[in-house]
Amino acid sequence: MTALPEKIRVVEVGPRDGLQSETQLIDSATKIELINRLSSARLPVVEATSFVSPRWIPQLADAEEVLAGIDRRPGTDYPVLVPNLRGLERALSAGVREIAVFTAASEAFNRKNVNAGIDESLDRIGEIAAPALKAGLRIRGYVSCVLGCPYEGRVSPDVVVDVARRLTQAGCYEVSLGDTIGIGTPAAARGLVDAVAAEIGVQRVAVHFHDTRGQALANVLACLQAGVATVDASVAGLGGCPYARGATGNLATEDLIYMLHGMGLETGVDLDALIETGLFISRALGRHPVSRLGQIAVLAAEQDTI
Ligand code: HMG
Ligand code: MG
Repeated sequence: MTALPEKIRVVEVGPRDGLQSETQLIDSATKIELINRLSSARLPVVEATSFVSPRWIPQLADAEEVLAGIDRRPGTDYPVLVPNLRGLERALSAGVREIAVFTAASEAFNRKNVNAGIDESLDRIGEIAAPALKAGLRIRGYVSCVLGCPYEGRVSPDVVVDVARRLTQAGCYEVSLGDTIGIGTPAAARGLVDAVAAEIGVQRVAVHFHDTRGQALANVLACLQAGVATVDASVAGLGGCPYARGATGNLATEDLIYMLHGMGLETGVDLDALIETGLFISRALGRHPVSRLGQIAVLAAEQDTI
């Protein structure tokens, strides 16, 4: 087995990926407190919001208010999603230092998500990247549906490798491989990461697992064994809807950190503060945390009150 990377950079995506599909109204103050608590828990990256069309993602229509309200902690980066030049202008006005651009390895999914095919979306990303780099921004890239697509089924690893290469050529310092529907298993995840790493270098590869089928932690471990040192996750396992079949959130950050620390890998994250943050946002949403560590904390609190 290859030695595991000693330090793992955890990218917290809860305020963006986690909240974007919530149907209930979440006020800006709650989002701001969530982000501040996450940075106080010393997450090195907190993806804060999206400058996408509010027609498409109404939940994040308050991106400006949220960014204006947060305390920017030294040591934490606050990237935001940007789909087009309009989004870039908004992000620049909000004083953003890092953006994330996104496309997919599936034509059908990409059309549903950004109303464009893969080539067209990569052209758009090229239009965004040039002025963004000129303005001194760092650019992270996402590829969705890397291990399967809800519309097309099987996705060819060759397409993922090609899209990852083109994102890197467009100026992305890192490409996050998104298992959007949580369909992958460890051997497939490892095989894909090896293929992408052979093209762009493993230091540029991040992984992003939704936990729909309970495979996310196992998939992460398989990718760490391939040398991946950046992992996306979402506090309290936010994302999707617990009442909608098949729509679940990302791997819960608390459970990820527990595994990494248990294996002696450094993250810099304060796990207790993170668990508290998961309880905070779960209370605000009126539900139990999806993370196992959050559930243990809830049970322990209930037993204390008996
Ligand atoms: P479109 O409808 O083709 O574009 O959407 P449009 O230019 O016709 O714009 C439609 C309306 O939105 C117009 O307003 C625009 O002005 C406005 P109207 O004239 O109708 O009043 N508009 C904007 N407003 C504010 N900011 C903007 C902006 N752009 C347009 N930036 C578009 C194309 C790309 C804009 C749209 O499809 C979109 O915003 N999509 C975003 C979808 C999204 O955010 N999906 C979730 C993120 S990806 C993800 O979750 C996967 C990931 O987690 C990895 C994984 O898990 O796989 C990253
Ligand atoms: Mg996602």
